[in-house]
Amino acid sequence: MEKLLQHKKRDEMQSPNQNPLMVEVAGLKLKNPTILASGILGTTSEIIEKVAKAGAGAIVTKSVGLKPRRGYSNPTLIQLDYGIINAMGLPNPGIHQFKKEIEKLRDLPIPLIVSVYGFSPQEYAEVAEEAVEAGADAVELNLSCPHVGGTGTEIGSNPKLAMKVIREVKGRIKKPVIAKITANVADLKGLARSIEEAGADAITAINTIRAMAIDIETTHPILSNIIGGLSGPAVKPIAVRCVYEIYEAVDIPIIGCGGIIDWRDAVEFILAGASAIQIGTVIAYRGLSVFTSIKNGIFSYLKRKGYKSVKDIVGLSHRA
Ligand code: DHB
Repeated sequence: MEKLLQHKKRDEMQSPNQNPLMVEVAGLKLKNPTILASGILGTTSEIIEKVAKAGAGAIVTKSVGLKPRRGYSNPTLIQLDYGIINAMGLPNPGIHQFKKEIEKLRDLPIPLIVSVYGFSPQEYAEVAEEAVEAGADAVELNLSCPHVGGTGTEIGSNPKLAMKVIREVKGRIKKPVIAKITANVADLKGLARSIEEAGADAITAINTIRAMAIDIETTHPILSNIIGGLSGPAVKPIAVRCVYEIYEAVDIPIIGCGGIIDWRDAVEFILAGASAIQIGTVIAYRGLSVFTSIKNGIFSYLKRKGYKSVKDIVGLSHRA
C-alpha cells in the first residue's frame, strides 16, 4: 500500500501533453532522460557544447576540486572486452580555473551539472559554491571515486560523513545537490536513506567499482595506481540492482548509471526506478551518436507499449 501511494506521489508530478521523453529530476527539466556521465568528455566548454548538440538531456562535468591535480602517471586505463578499468586520479585544473569553462557555457541549452569532490565537507561546499557562482545548474557530489584517498568512496561509504558533506553543501548553495554513490557498501539502502535525510535532491547510482588487472608476462599490476574503477557492460547488472534497491528505500529521484550501451539498458534502469540515466563508457566505443539512438529507442518503446511518458515507467518493475 505504502509503495502504491509512493507511486501515486511520483505519478502526480507528471503533466500530460508533453514531450514523452521529458523528465524532471531534482528540479532540473530535461528534454530527454540521457545525461553525460562524469569523467567522460566533460572537461572543456567546447566538448560539452558538442555533447549537448549530440542530443544529451544534461551534462555532468569531470569532477573538479579546490586545487589543481595532475592525476596518476600512466597507465591509467585498461580496455577490456566488457568494460574499462580506469584510475586517472581525479586530474583537473581546480575550480578557480574551471570556472572559466563553466562561465563560457551560460547559453548551453541543457542543464550543466558540475561534479564536485573535496577532502572535507567544507571543501566540497566551497567548490560547489564556486561552481554555482560560475553558472552551474546543479552539482553532483562525487562521494564514490573508488581509489583516491581522503575523498570519494572514503567519505561516501560512511553514511555519517556523507551526510555531513551533503548538509554542508546544501547550506551553502541554492541549486540542486545530487549525490553520486558507490555500490561498494554493505548497506546500500541505509546509505541511500541517510543521503535523503541529509537533504540531497537526487541520487546517482552507481560510480565505478573497485577493480584491477595484472599483466601475466611482467607479473605486475597494470595500472600505475594498481586499483582502478570498473565501468561498462560488466557493471550493469550490479547497477540495476542498486537502483532497484535504492528505489525501495527513498523517495528522491534516482539517476541510473553503469554500463548502459543501448536503449534497452536505459529502459531497464528506468523500470528499476531511475528517472534519468547517465551514459559514459559506451561513448568510447560508439561515439556521441549513442545519445540519439538511445533517445529514439526509448521513444519507440514507449509508443509500442502505449505509454505516454518516460515518467509512466519509472520504477514500473516494482509493481509486478
Ligand atoms: C576517477 C574518478 C572517479 O570518480 C571514478 O569513478 C573513476 C576514476 C579518476 O579520476 O581517477
